[in-house]
Amino acid sequence: MLFAVLIVLLSAIVAYFYVFCRRAYGYWKSLGVPYEEPECLFFGSSFNLVFARETATDVYQKIYNSHSREKFCGFYHMTRPHLLIRSPELVEAITVKDFSYFQNRHMKANTELDELSAHLVNLRDEQWRVTRHKMNPTFSSSKLKHMHGQLTDCADNLVERLASVEKSTEVNIGDFIRRYGMDALCSCAFGIDAEAPNNPSATILGVVRRIFEPSRLMAFKRFLRTELDWFFTLLRWRNVPVELEKYFKNLIDEILEHREKQDAGRVDFLQLTNDLVKNDLLLIRDGQLDKDDPNVFTKKLMYANEFVFFLAGLETTTSTICYTLYELALNTGIQEEAYQEIKRIVTKHGHLAHEAIKEMTYLSHVLSESLRKYPPVPLISREASKNYKIPETDITLPKGMVVFIPVHSIQHDPKYFPDPYEFKPERFTHQILPGSYLPFGDGPRKCIGARFAELEAKIALSKILLEYTVTRCHKTEVPLTMDKRVALLATPKGGIWLGLERRTKNQREDSS
Ligand code: HEM
Repeated sequence: MLFAVLIVLLSAIVAYFYVFCRRAYGYWKSLGVPYEEPECLFFGSSFNLVFARETATDVYQKIYNSHSREKFCGFYHMTRPHLLIRSPELVEAITVKDFSYFQNRHMKANTELDELSAHLVNLRDEQWRVTRHKMNPTFSSSKLKHMHGQLTDCADNLVERLASVEKSTEVNIGDFIRRYGMDALCSCAFGIDAEAPNNPSATILGVVRRIFEPSRLMAFKRFLRTELDWFFTLLRWRNVPVELEKYFKNLIDEILEHREKQDAGRVDFLQLTNDLVKNDLLLIRDGQLDKDDPNVFTKKLMYANEFVFFLAGLETTTSTICYTLYELALNTGIQEEAYQEIKRIVTKHGHLAHEAIKEMTYLSHVLSESLRKYPPVPLISREASKNYKIPETDITLPKGMVVFIPVHSIQHDPKYFPDPYEFKPERFTHQILPGSYLPFGDGPRKCIGARFAELEAKIALSKILLEYTVTRCHKTEVPLTMDKRVALLATPKGGIWLGLERRTKNQREDSS
């Protein structure tokens, strides 16, 4: 009897579930929007993504390709309808012109569970606007100029580290570049010298790597988190383990305490964000700001927004430098042209000055092409905060609709970039169609660290190319195989292996 009741109950649940999914999957048809048929009940088009059987790039590339005549198309992410944008004009409308409708991403902070999640990437509406406005000056040209020296010191250490292993000639270049990226962030975010005793690089690197850990379980958890946030809160499943959160906050407190006693006037991200906290405390004291105003730049916001520099800035910049070196190893003519430009300009300035970097137009084009071919963030999202009528159509997207912009697919569309799989820096000598090139996103919500990342990458590339020729070695994979378990970022499986040949003494001395 009990067994029969169970069977009936289970059948009822399955039937309900089936009807629910079928009804949900009728959404795009009812709106008259071209759409991708869901591949699988409950998972929609996302089964392969959830179970790390395909990368996000591949999943959205397929949808992009199968609607080649459309400006946009619908698809189902689990049971929820989402819109994939295919046309650069519509990308521009959503990210720039009609930004007031699309201020937010589909993610949100969950401060009850993860205090460090209240950062720019996740913040929404007014709180994002106020925080971004306060943080924009942190990345101004004059602040970046101040950080130039710190970055060249880190790049010198990188070249020294490469020198210590060069005899083996084949290196997994990511290991070295990630260490450089970490040193650069520790130096520019915290003012910690890479060679200092107790340098926290390794520990913070551990935290960040755990977050991006390539495992099927992590990919699954991360995916579900965006869908079932309440469930995670219920199970108290955190993104950042509590001991690591404590470590990070203590580290910041210690640095600030030390600074109170010692030097004033440092220019690094921590000092700049700490000044924001102090400034708001003064305004509260003077009665110009209410202490309960949700837009106060609190110490908690400072911790989270320091943390995001590591989260958003490390793997992205590391992979950009690695992919660029990879393409230079495969395209020796381009490498030679970049090297000649760097050598000429550095010789003229006497060293790798900030002004010298600005003059390196060919290197800039090489970097832009690398970011086109290998955008580290292959997909960006926006969520409609009010009903939005798609321009030149009768279709209105309801409030809450999530739109995905497939950066990788648009940047590989031969309509905008002929021979998209070829590495051609000269593309960037011409005007690029707005909305077709988005490695840092676009509009008011575009990457806040873009110019810092470019500077960091150009300094590392210049220093390496002045010392070494990078070559293809027998471990270099062509083409690269991407790791399907890393849902967020485009990451090569097994890393990028390259050969290093030290330039002759004469070549090196010419530019020093
Ligand atoms: C090559 C390196 C990098 C790439 C390709 C990259 C790419 C991106 C992209 C695509 C976005 C989303 C933009 C949008 O939605 O329109 C973003 C946002 C963001 N990035 Fe970067 N990023 C890089 C480096 C950095 C660095 C070095 C930092 C900080 C030090 C950083 C901090 C952020 C933050 C805080 C956001 C959120 C901005 C907001 O919502 O207001 N990124 N980045």
